[in-house]
Amino acid sequence: MSYYVTTPIFYVNDAPHIGHGYTTVMGDVLTRWHRQRGEDVWYLTGTDEHGQKVLRRAEQNGVSPKEWTDRLVESEWLPVLDTLDIANDDFIRTTEERHTLGSQAFWRDLYERGEVYKGSFSGWYSVGSEEFVGDDDVADGEDDDEGHKVSALDGSRLEWVTEENYFFPLSKYADQLLQLYRENPDFIQPASARNEIISFVERGLKDLSISRSTFDWGVPVPWDTSHVMYVWIEALLNYVTAAGYGVDDERFDRLWPADVHIVGKDIARFHAVIWPAMLMAAGRPVPHRVFAHGWLLVGGQKMSKSKANGIRPDELVDVFGSDAYRYYFSRALTFGADGSISWEDIRARYHAELANGFGNLASRVAGMIGKYFGGELPAAGAPSAAETELQATVAEASRAADEAIERIAPQDALTQVWRIVDDLNGYLTDQAPWLVAKEVNTGGGAGPQAADSASERLATILNTAAEGLRVLAVLLNPVMPKACASLWDSLGAEPTLGPLADQRIDDVATWGQLAPGSTITKVPSLFPRIEDEDA
Ligand code: ME8
Ligand code: MG
Repeated sequence: MSYYVTTPIFYVNDAPHIGHGYTTVMGDVLTRWHRQRGEDVWYLTGTDEHGQKVLRRAEQNGVSPKEWTDRLVESEWLPVLDTLDIANDDFIRTTEERHTLGSQAFWRDLYERGEVYKGSFSGWYSVGSEEFVGDDDVADGEDDDEGHKVSALDGSRLEWVTEENYFFPLSKYADQLLQLYRENPDFIQPASARNEIISFVERGLKDLSISRSTFDWGVPVPWDTSHVMYVWIEALLNYVTAAGYGVDDERFDRLWPADVHIVGKDIARFHAVIWPAMLMAAGRPVPHRVFAHGWLLVGGQKMSKSKANGIRPDELVDVFGSDAYRYYFSRALTFGADGSISWEDIRARYHAELANGFGNLASRVAGMIGKYFGGELPAAGAPSAAETELQATVAEASRAADEAIERIAPQDALTQVWRIVDDLNGYLTDQAPWLVAKEVNTGGGAGPQAADSASERLATILNTAAEGLRVLAVLLNPVMPKACASLWDSLGAEPTLGPLADQRIDDVATWGQLAPGSTITKVPSLFPRIEDEDA
């Protein structure tokens, strides 16, 4: 059993912006969490390199498309995975041989099953979104597009295409698709995307032109190399070719079907209509879920390269760090809905939630254990009501966070984990270990016995606080792996509990895991304040 998650493969017409970063980070948070559930995770991302959009971009730059994509993948698309601290298991490029072989095997299977036919095609094509646009969605262009037709779907300019092409009989799958959506309410999420897809299919489907013959930057159709596969049909196949389709059956059977395809809502239709129909036609199982997230809006507009409001991930990571970046996009937006982002909001959350809420908590606790116990974790005495309550919050919040991840709602998972951050801060304020410490020295004027019990109380409070930090390190590791690694070091946990990544979500709430006597060290601030001149 595996948990196979994918992102879209992105066009390498340009460098990545934070919209691409968003999808990839969310998939990473999700898969890191599932790894800490002990599941056998496979996380795939990659690049979509064929088609006219990329071809023209290369031509504009005076290089071959292969040179262009090699250069951009090396200098931009692979490095951004490091910038964002992505732990993907695989990265597929559609120019790789495994993808060519797998896609051709898939086409041969379709052909043998009578699921490909030759016909002639005339219609409007958008190179910008690499799709054929139906007559209902053709509009007259304005301004820069004056005198041209544009797509009503996304405003991209259209070109008239007349070609002999291969076709896929998509129309005959409408009923089977509707049945799929009906029987598997989770197949396409969230509900807004699901409703849109259902009404789209209910209006009826047209057969799809799936090859092109006027350019050759693509995967050749195996029995007719004067055609290349239509880029979308080829791109969707990456999810199976990366899993070994047609090349490694044993591996394919282990990974397929995918558990979740994470996509932006712009491409939900390709994933929830065309893709399952292709798989049905090939006699293969369909993925379990397609999750369509919303737009990142900047200044109220969808962020995109063509609008020149695209922000590069490193512009944010250079100032706030990858952890805060990952935290911000997971916490501040609702996955599945559009969301506005702003520099001011990132900065405010960084200071309030990360520096003051979480980072400060970690350094205070380590500091007090250093000061009062020489940096050795004290054993806890009998718990009072305050400790019991805190433990109950941890048990409940970690269960609710896990359930939120199951729903692919990272923002809700973080809200739950932040109950623990807030309760732990409140616990320290209420228990005021710095006051208890004074009684240890003086017995509060009530003699050595009182000093003994104050000492036990101080030990209990700081042991509890350290356990709370252990819980936070485990639950926040999927979102902020760097800060949590540093916290894990600070807690001296590895020698007895092992690596952080091996800690399991389902027993995170079991109390008393840190060994008394462990060395607690104060580490540099997890989230140093950012001065105004930087931000
Ligand atoms: O569509 N907000 O690639 P693409 C949120 N190659 N997400 C955004 C975004 C924004 N403003 N802008 C882009 C393609 N994205 C095809 C996919 S898959 C078989 C082939 C993200 O480079 C979001 O995930 O145009 C969206 O779906 C994707 O980038 C589109 O990337
Ligand atoms: Mg796009």
